[in-house]
Amino acid sequence: MQAVGVIGAGQMGAGIAQVSAQAGYRVLLSDVSRERAEAGKAGIAKALDRLVTKEKLTSEARDAALALIEPVESVAAMGACALVIEAATEREEIKRAIFAEIGTVLGADAILASNTSSIPITRLAQASPDPARFVGVHFFNPVPVMGLIELIRGLATSDATVATVEAYAQSLGKQVVRANDAPGFIVNRVLMPMLNEACFALGEGVASVRDIDLGCQLGLNHPMGPLTLADFIGLDTCLEICRVLFTSTGDPKFRPAPLLVKYVEAGWFGRKTKRGFYDYTGPEPVPTR
Ligand code: 3HC
Repeated sequence: MQAVGVIGAGQMGAGIAQVSAQAGYRVLLSDVSRERAEAGKAGIAKALDRLVTKEKLTSEARDAALALIEPVESVAAMGACALVIEAATEREEIKRAIFAEIGTVLGADAILASNTSSIPITRLAQASPDPARFVGVHFFNPVPVMGLIELIRGLATSDATVATVEAYAQSLGKQVVRANDAPGFIVNRVLMPMLNEACFALGEGVASVRDIDLGCQLGLNHPMGPLTLADFIGLDTCLEICRVLFTSTGDPKFRPAPLLVKYVEAGWFGRKTKRGFYDYTGPEPVPTR
């Protein structure tokens, strides 16, 4: 494959750029400005340095991966990319604006993929240059660590598009699961009700933050308790996905927990704002309830 374009140099976009470069792809990385794209690349350099320190990567492999990542001014530079992955903010109007811009340069055979975690692929495809060459490619956070990619086909996505993106995903060393374009796809459909239920349990006084998390972590053998994971994903993101599940199905089982809504209204989004179910201002996270 020729170059891969990655739109969005935040946590997800940078992770996608990193694993793509480590797999040998040339990567064009964009964000709202070249400075933001450069900052994304600087973060990738740090992540690769850590791998070198831990002797999981040679310094030659780090240098080779970094050399493959080119921060660019805008998506206008991505005309020669065979695959462009959008990993911008999870807001439909932002994604639509990006698709309109990429539509002016995307090659005739190139594929546009979105890393959306919850917006319907069939609907987003309507704003893409060609719905047959549009697909959902859902990575998990932290991208370099998580072994899964969900592939979501919209109604109009072609078989060739699915096959090409599946081959790319496998070349990153990830396992692929295919989902139809249903709310939350597979993983968030199952995960979000659990995280939301932990918020209900906390709000109803069932147990403390520590005990809910420790109970689920050790009792279910999960790497993180649900409240820690919600903070890690971002409470704003969790609420957004719960709302998508609730409004698109109309099923009350997906209604967001009042406490989750309150925390988001307070601007307590979790790790990224240093306050969520834990306080992250000190050396170790401290439960807040
Ligand atoms: N980037 C890269 N590597 C990371 C990392 C990051 N942000 N965070 C941790 N790692 C690496 C560490 O370097 C370490 O690597 P090593 O084993 O080679 O030394 C390994 O992961 C384990 O890390 P730690 O020992 O520091 O910590 P943990 O053992 O607690 O693992 C974790 C951290 C991998 C984040 C683990 O807690 C975990 O898997 N948590 C669950 C994550 C999860 O569920 N993600 C999915 C969220 S849902 C989603 O993304 C979908 C979206 O649409 C909402």
